Amino acid sequence: MLRRLSPVQPDSFEFTPANLDWAHAQMTKYPEGRQQSAIIPVLWRAQEQEGWLSRPAIEYCAELLGMPYIRALEVATFYFMFQLQPVGSIANIQICGTTTCMICGAEDLIAVCKRKIAPTPHTLSADGKFSWEEVECLGACTNAPMAQIGKDYYEDLTPAKLEELIDAFSAGQVPLPGPQNGRFSSEPLGGPTALADLKGQGDKLNASAALARDIGETVKRIDGTEVPILTKWLRNPEAAVDDRTGTDTAPEHEPRPAAGEPADATGITEQEAQAASAARPQSDRNPAGIRAIEEAEQKDDTTSR
Ligand code: FES
Repeated sequence: MLRRLSPVQPDSFEFTPANLDWAHAQMTKYPEGRQQSAIIPVLWRAQEQEGWLSRPAIEYCAELLGMPYIRALEVATFYFMFQLQPVGSIANIQICGTTTCMICGAEDLIAVCKRKIAPTPHTLSADGKFSWEEVECLGACTNAPMAQIGKDYYEDLTPAKLEELIDAFSAGQVPLPGPQNGRFSSEPLGGPTALADLKGQGDKLNASAALARDIGETVKRIDGTEVPILTKWLRNPEAAVDDRTGTDTAPEHEPRPAAGEPADATGITEQEAQAASAARPQSDRNPAGIRAIEEAEQKDDTTSR
């Protein structure tokens, strides 16, 4: 699907002071010089602030992270999570149109969107509450056809069910996400044929739907307040604006912030040098590995004797 920037763009974009603090905190997760690794959360925050992702916002994020505009634009145009056009005030309904969902009736769901929201995708409904688009596989193929509304998956949909959902959202309700046909999760329609005794462990809802129920689901976009993205190593509750409790539970020694810790002459950062795991085999050609530290210690011992 073609993903293009909106022809109508604001003149400029700037993070609010709180969001700028948040972005700076996220950047400390990465070694010095590699702050562009924070591009997805930073773009996401810009989208939360603006409601959608404008060209000035993308360029602002690229500049903040010290990366070329085109690299940020590549990320923004690749992922469907980024809305490149203004979206409905309640929700942008994303209908999966890939093979499984298409076979199971996605085109009928799209027909509902065309009738109830707008004849074309990326167009606001008359009341401004909704917009819709067709997206690629959202990974819930077993529960096809499905749609992502806000941040939740609504699965096993029928045209009538989707109409009901849109009406409920329009009336300010938040219907429970998950399978809409009474299915527990993604078991066979006739019921589980294996591990049947494990089904649900007593709860009528699967874990994802139960969580939505327990936290009092809203249709708002993910804004970091549901499950805070912590930067506890900053050890300053005021700076860690995403830590709702403000409780400093960070251990004294870990994790270490990457901010201000430059790569050494070999291009290896202090954090990389500390990483000794089975997934990172040590090599004689790796001068900043544990081996190098051990050799340096041996050398010190020999010199002091
Ligand atoms: S094909 Fe629709 S979720 Fe995979």
